[in-house]
Amino acid sequence: MRERIEAILAEINDLKCRKEQEIEEARVRLLGKKGEVTKLFEEFRSVAPELKKEFGKSLNELKNLASAKIEELRNALENSAEASAPSFDLTKPGDSYPLGSRHPVSIVREEIVAIFRKLGYDVAEGPEVEDDWHVFEALNFPPEHPAREMQDTFFVTSGENPILLRTHTSSVQVRAMETMPLPIRIVCPGRVFRNEAISARAHCIFHQVEGLYIDENVTFADMKQAILLFAREMFGSETRIRMRPSYFPFTEPSAEVDVSCNICHGKGCNICKGTGWLEILGCGMVDPNVLEASGIDSKKYSGFAFGMGVERIAMLKWQVKDLRNYFENDLRFLKEFETNI
Ligand code: PHE
Repeated sequence: MRERIEAILAEINDLKCRKEQEIEEARVRLLGKKGEVTKLFEEFRSVAPELKKEFGKSLNELKNLASAKIEELRNALENSAEASAPSFDLTKPGDSYPLGSRHPVSIVREEIVAIFRKLGYDVAEGPEVEDDWHVFEALNFPPEHPAREMQDTFFVTSGENPILLRTHTSSVQVRAMETMPLPIRIVCPGRVFRNEAISARAHCIFHQVEGLYIDENVTFADMKQAILLFAREMFGSETRIRMRPSYFPFTEPSAEVDVSCNICHGKGCNICKGTGWLEILGCGMVDPNVLEASGIDSKKYSGFAFGMGVERIAMLKWQVKDLRNYFENDLRFLKEFETNI
């Protein structure tokens, strides 16, 4: 028995298996039901009692060694398989780039512009830093008009002809009247600046889309129709509009336009403050003084203009109560508009 133990020990030490199947065969040969080590355990029963202690110990050692060797071979095989495999998994799906989303102000601005494009309006743009002429003077603002004062306007330079940040995109309309051939039919989207305290309802920066149509025989009825079409495209085909008399230095007559509340359909809710109406824009027939200031014959031509705040339209569309959300770029807010790309 001693020799057989020695022989099996030598066999275990010499074991070199490179394949899974070979390791399994060696395991069966040594430790299986009819394996050599198992057989020795059977024979152990007939060993003389005085030798039992010695053989028992050797046999247990032999069994442990065989198991350890098999385990070792398995580990070695696994490691070499890992080492020779490519270090990346070709079947794994790729990492996707985090996709941004359009800013809600951009979404609404483009929607407004797209509606007017359908009505034949072109897009005109102009500088954000302007001179007094294009923002005020050419628009018939009397010199003492309160909008010129520091409380509303951010001045870049002071003096006779100050440079300032435009307070409305009507300045782009003046530039268009000065340079474009008639008839003119444009919308002017852009950023505007007013020196106002920041709150839920006001901000020192916001966006406007203003519009201008100048041709022969343009009437108040044309303006009403254009605005009605816009309101129905923007807020739904059931939308009604109403006009309230108003005042702007550059239009006469002037009006403020409300749309029927698209939340309660005119019944009165907390969005429309129980009135059933929501204010969306200012408009009017271009004052003859304004046409003449830009060199347009006011006897031959007439026109209308309108202007709206993009954030205001977006607030009404999505019932966002706090204007500041549009400027703080909180991803939790911006992500709500992801599907609107
Ligand atoms: N420019 C005006 C404003 O910023 C809006 C407006 C434009 C009103 C054209 C009438 C006509 O408030």
